[in-house]
Amino acid sequence: MSKITVLGMGAMGSRMALSLLKAEHEVTVWNRRAGKTDLVVKAGAKVAETPRSAVKEADFVISMVRDDEASKQVWLNSETGAMAGLSKNVIGIESSTLTVAWTKELAKEFKQKGVAFLDAPVAGTRPQAEAAKLIYFVGGDAATFTKAQPILQAMGSAVHSVGSVGSGMTIKLAVNALFGIQVSALGELIGLMHDCGLDEAKAVEILSSTPVCSPAAKMAASAMLVRNFSPLFPIELVEKDLSYAVKTAQSNQTTLPLVEAAQQVFATAIKEGYGEDNITGVAQLYI
Ligand SMILES: NC(=O)c1ccc[n+]([C@@H]2O[C@H](COP(=O)([O-])OP(=O)(O)OC[C@H]3O[C@@H](n4cnc5c(N)ncnc54)[C@H](OP(=O)(O)O)[C@@H]3O)[C@@H](O)[C@H]2O)c1
Repeated sequence: MSKITVLGMGAMGSRMALSLLKAEHEVTVWNRRAGKTDLVVKAGAKVAETPRSAVKEADFVISMVRDDEASKQVWLNSETGAMAGLSKNVIGIESSTLTVAWTKELAKEFKQKGVAFLDAPVAGTRPQAEAAKLIYFVGGDAATFTKAQPILQAMGSAVHSVGSVGSGMTIKLAVNALFGIQVSALGELIGLMHDCGLDEAKAVEILSSTPVCSPAAKMAASAMLVRNFSPLFPIELVEKDLSYAVKTAQSNQTTLPLVEAAQQVFATAIKEGYGEDNITGVAQLYI
C-alpha cells in the first residue's frame, strides 16, 4: 500500500482516485473548486485544502488537470503549488494531456528540486478510467518507471514505457490527433452520404464493416448514427489536444496540416455551441 495524492477531481482524476482506493492505497485528493470530492471521500479518500498540503505525506503525486496552465498552477503556484511541499523520495506523475514543451519545462523543475518525475498521460475515456483499463504512455527514466509501474497498473490495463521525459506526451498527442482526424472525417462523410440520399444506417453499417474503418471510428460512427453525443471525451478537450499537437510540431519547426484542419473543425463545433458534447458531436456540423 502506498500513500498517493491525486490533484484534480475532474471526470478522469476522480475515477483514477477511485481505482487507487479499490487497490487499497491511501489516497489524498485536492480539487480547485469545491463539491467535486464527495464521491471519493465516501470511498475513503482524504481531502486537502491546497496541492501543497495534499502532498505532505505522499509517496506518489499524480496530477490530472485540464491543460498546461492548470498543471503550472497545481505544481508551481508560489503559495499553494505542490512542488514546494514534495519530499525528495516522492515520484511526481503528470497524467494530464499537455504540450511536450511544458512537460519538459516541468521535468526541469522536478530535476532542480531533486525529485523523480514521469509524464504518464492516458488513452481511454470515462468508462476505461472507471474500469481501471486506461492505457498509459510513460516518459522518464527506467528506475522511476519501475517504481511507479504497480501504481499505474492499478488504474490501467497497459503501461508502456516509451522513452525519456516528454515521450509519453508525444505519443498521447499523436494518438488523439489520429482519433480526432478520423472522427471529424467520419462526421463529414456521414453528412455526405445523408445528402446523397443513402440509407444512413445501412451506409454506416457497410462503411464500418470495411477494413479502412478503425475500431474507434466504428464506435464513433455507431454513436453518430443514434445521435449519442453525451460527453465522454468532450469537444473542448479534443480541440485543446489537437492545438497542443500543432504547437508541439511548431516548436520542432514543422507543421501538421491535417491535424490543423481537424482542429479548425472542432473549433467551429465549439463556436456552434457543441463544446461540451462528446467528440462524436462534431457530426452535428453535417447532419
Ligand atoms: N475526458 C477524457 O476522455 C480524457 C481522456 C484522456 C485524457 N484526458 C485528459 O485528462 C485531463 C483531465 O481531463 P478530464 O476529462 O478529467 O477534464 P475535466 O473533467 O474537465 O476536469 C478538469 C480538471 O482540471 C481542473 N482545472 C482546470 N483548470 C484548472 C486550473 N487553472 N487550476 C487547477 N485546476 C484546474 C478542474 O478543476 P475544477 O473542477 O475546479 O474546474 C478539474 O479538476 C485533461 O488534460 C484531458 O485532456 C481526458
